[in-house]
Amino acid sequence: MVSAVVLAGGFGTRLRPLTLSTPKPLVRIAGIPMIDRVLASLPSFVDEAFIAAGYRAQDIRSHFNGKGINGLAVNVIAEEKPLGTAGALWSLRNRLEGDFIVLNGDVINSLPVNEMFTFHRKCGGIATISLWEVDNPENFGIVRLGQDMQITEFKEKPKREDAFSRLINAGTYVMNDRVFDYMDSHSSSMEKEVFPSISGRGLYGFRFSGYWVDCGSLDSYLTAQEILVSGEAGVVRNGARVEGCVISRPVGIERGAVVRGSRIGPNTYIEEKCAVSEGCVVKRSTLMRGAVIGKGCEITNSIIGPGTEVTDGTSSDNQILVNQSQ
Ligand code: GDD
Ligand code: MG
Repeated sequence: MVSAVVLAGGFGTRLRPLTLSTPKPLVRIAGIPMIDRVLASLPSFVDEAFIAAGYRAQDIRSHFNGKGINGLAVNVIAEEKPLGTAGALWSLRNRLEGDFIVLNGDVINSLPVNEMFTFHRKCGGIATISLWEVDNPENFGIVRLGQDMQITEFKEKPKREDAFSRLINAGTYVMNDRVFDYMDSHSSSMEKEVFPSISGRGLYGFRFSGYWVDCGSLDSYLTAQEILVSGEAGVVRNGARVEGCVISRPVGIERGAVVRGSRIGPNTYIEEKCAVSEGCVVKRSTLMRGAVIGKGCEITNSIIGPGTEVTDGTSSDNQILVNQSQ
């Protein structure tokens, strides 16, 4: 029996106002909620997932509606107040045995979780952290790697001048239940408290290739979308009405969307029941379910939230627009 925990209790502040009405794990990216993409990345030998939720946990519970996904049992656990990433795990300690998987709920990546799991078992460590290299690590946790992929130092969100590495915590872990020996009921942050205390004592790193994006901000969301629409999500579905448009791929348009006389793409995803009137430019943007875009609008680097109406001639760049009523 192998369990997984998805950390999904954050407030999603950098995606406001979208996340005022939808918790970040349920925000759809290229048409599919982030949390469903995260769960789909789990190896088939995982039989049980706990969703550690807090903010708008009821929405997450309704999303799963007591049902699992593809043979995976899903239990949504609601925190009354945010316990932090360590507190969330501590509260589940009696339900996690042996080796288990922990995932941040807002990461889109090509991590081969099963290979990482095998690597962790081979090393026999307390925990293994997925690692990715970035140019600017300030917004992440960084690691120093010693011999045999051992992590000898971990620092969360270092100042630029203190950043001793560009290898970052990519937000997926395999842990052994011995990790709870290094925690107690006061533990709050895995990244600030637990990882630094087990560095050099059986903490390992696992690097991988392909892609990795934390979708927590508007810009990173749109970067992740580009990866997804450049792949399977980049289709104009049967049943989408696209008339007199110039389409610059990659673009995804769902059935039931109506798009007329406009320039669409690249990197644009239009969900079902959206309507785009004549003379618009929609580029590096997302139109969520039922958004209505008036004539001659220019929408760039933006997310237009579900059901949001954008009046004729509006320009939106680098914004998240949602209906006032939401
Ligand atoms: N249950 C629960 N309770 N979950 C939480 C809490 C909490 O109090 N606080 C945060 N989370 C969840 C968030 O919902 C998210 O899925 C995950 O934990 C990480 O939180 P973020 O707020 O997205 O953190 P971050 O992106 O700034 O940094 C984290 O991720 C980076 C990689 O994406 C850290 O783990 C960094 O070290 C890491 O590099
Ligand atoms: Mg994040």
